[in-house]
Amino acid sequence: RWASSLPQLDSVDRSDEESGGEMIDWDNLGFGLIPTDYMYVMRCSVEDGAFTRGELSRYGNIELSPSSGVLNYGQGLFEGMKAYRRVGRAGYTLFRPEENARRMQHGADRMCMPAPSVDQFVDAVKHTVLANARWVPPQGKGALYIRPLLIGSGPILGLAPAPEYTFLVYAAPVGNYFKEGLAPINLVVEDGVHRAMPGGTGGVKTITNYAPVIKAQMDAKSKGFTDVLYLDAIHKRYLEEVSSCNVFIVKGRVIATPATRGTILPGITRKSIIELATDRGYKVEERPVTVDDLIDADEVFCTGTAVVVAPVATVTVEGQRYSFRTGPDTVSQELYTTLTSIQMGLAEDSKGWTVAV
Ligand code: COI
Repeated sequence: RWASSLPQLDSVDRSDEESGGEMIDWDNLGFGLIPTDYMYVMRCSVEDGAFTRGELSRYGNIELSPSSGVLNYGQGLFEGMKAYRRVGRAGYTLFRPEENARRMQHGADRMCMPAPSVDQFVDAVKHTVLANARWVPPQGKGALYIRPLLIGSGPILGLAPAPEYTFLVYAAPVGNYFKEGLAPINLVVEDGVHRAMPGGTGGVKTITNYAPVIKAQMDAKSKGFTDVLYLDAIHKRYLEEVSSCNVFIVKGRVIATPATRGTILPGITRKSIIELATDRGYKVEERPVTVDDLIDADEVFCTGTAVVVAPVATVTVEGQRYSFRTGPDTVSQELYTTLTSIQMGLAEDSKGWTVAV
């Protein structure tokens, strides 16, 4: 079996482990890259047709052909996941890792790449967490962020699928994504730059969806905003998502979020929040959400693996700043607590979403 051919973790070279984790200021983790010890690498050629055997290696640079598919044509996908220390017992907890595996498979189909099986993906993530265990932050200080990548690593000159693929998983300890920490963020609606268009790749987690929004994001930051809220490319009227997360609005007991129809990333936090909010008696609508709906909302919040549930204090639309409810008695705070209690093992996981490592 593939899994039995994995290197055993206790045979991993840990000779230089004494420096690292204990040097970290766990109270001030942001979302900067703190390199860890090991990464997991698995390769697949088109002749092989499927990924067969992966292994852990020291975290470090990888060798790529200058003509690799990913460098030349952006043939690549990524995922984002988190591992938390388990409360009251040894080990770590992953949140719905099979969902990430399936999302990668769906994206791989769109990007003409072979993908690891769900078991291969989850097993690789578990190995990466265990090999980097000393980098998992103490409880309440953050999480080990896990970044699975799937890239066209083989050389290709004409525009076509690469002849070889690499699945790689690395990890880094993280705290809050936004520099605001857990404080509410300030968004600006952008109607001149679009993240995705119908028929494009907005609905899959390809690396090519992210670099094109950096300019809009940098412009917004230079004006004091936290991030950008993008509108649909056709009508310039419907909310899509923020650069790195999905968006929700709240009006009374009704919560709405843009429906995923190919231009919006089907976030796993998004999906979980929809289910948790419905369980808690909110009416949750997945539908087109207009800028007018946004302006009329009581609350706005963002969701994502990296951002978790981030309350939005203001959204600026055509130079006009609109404020929304934030603070302890908000829907976003209630949903943040409900979600993170499950993720961190502070509440019973009646849905079976967590996976122990
Ligand atoms: C995540 O939330 O994990 C993402 O992949 C977004 C990324 C831009 C940080």
